[in-house]
Amino acid sequence: MSDILQVKDLHAYYGKGHILHGVDLRIGRGEIVSLLGRNGVGRSTLVKAVMGQVNATGSVQFKDQEMLGLKAFQIAHKGLAYVPENRDIFPTLTVEQNLILGQKKATSSPRWSIADMYRMFPRLEERRTVPAGFLSGGEQQMLTLCRSLMGDPDLIMIDEPTEGLAPKIVALVAEYLLALKEKGISVLLVEQKLAIALEISQRVYVMGHGAIVFEGTPEELKANAVVRKEWLEV
Ligand SMILES: Nc1ncnc2c1ncn2[C@@H]1O[C@H](COP(=O)(O)OP(=O)(O)O)[C@@H](O)[C@H]1O
Ligand SMILES: [Mg+2]
Repeated sequence: MSDILQVKDLHAYYGKGHILHGVDLRIGRGEIVSLLGRNGVGRSTLVKAVMGQVNATGSVQFKDQEMLGLKAFQIAHKGLAYVPENRDIFPTLTVEQNLILGQKKATSSPRWSIADMYRMFPRLEERRTVPAGFLSGGEQQMLTLCRSLMGDPDLIMIDEPTEGLAPKIVALVAEYLLALKEKGISVLLVEQKLAIALEISQRVYVMGHGAIVFEGTPEELKANAVVRKEWLEV
């Protein structure tokens, strides 16, 4: 299987702060891969560096093209979507206006329409004329995900989508990520919650202090009490 994303020897910096110390990570086409780790280890910095939002050196190959040096909008345009931690919606615009803004103008035949989004998330259709700022946390997370899908990505990197959501909604998020995989979209799920990552991923990375400290299958991570104790449990 060819990889959709290959990150090699990635170093990232905030000013003089050296945050990532040579990260290697790959995602196969159609794979769900999780990136786990405690708060502050550098997971968000990794996805931001891939998106061209943080100073970085090394290599980021997306669909066999180098991304380092490109601007975030150029990277997004190539089909790499990033759903940030802080639910990036326009609160004063309606649900439907947010979806329209997510559309990628240049694509002749995108995979998804607004009607598809409403089929997948009927709750958003019920609230289509409501300003997005009035939605619940779970609804806002769904809207953010839908807005990214409107850009017709091949890979979605989604940063802590289940943060602050009730268990029932977490289960829904898991279901939707699996539905994306069925459509052939690759997913990088950044998480702190071990359960959802183990449930839906084909492979898992664990990060500690700006470096990858474990790579394997969910089964291998379940069996590795040392890694879980040292790098995940609080
Ligand atoms: N904008 C920033 N400027 C300076 N340091 C930052 C910035 N964002 C994050 N950091 C630092 O980088 C490290 C990694 O942060 P982050 O990637 O957000 O971790 P995670 O997403 O795994 O919780 C932390 O030590 C954090 O304090
Ligand atoms: Mg983070």
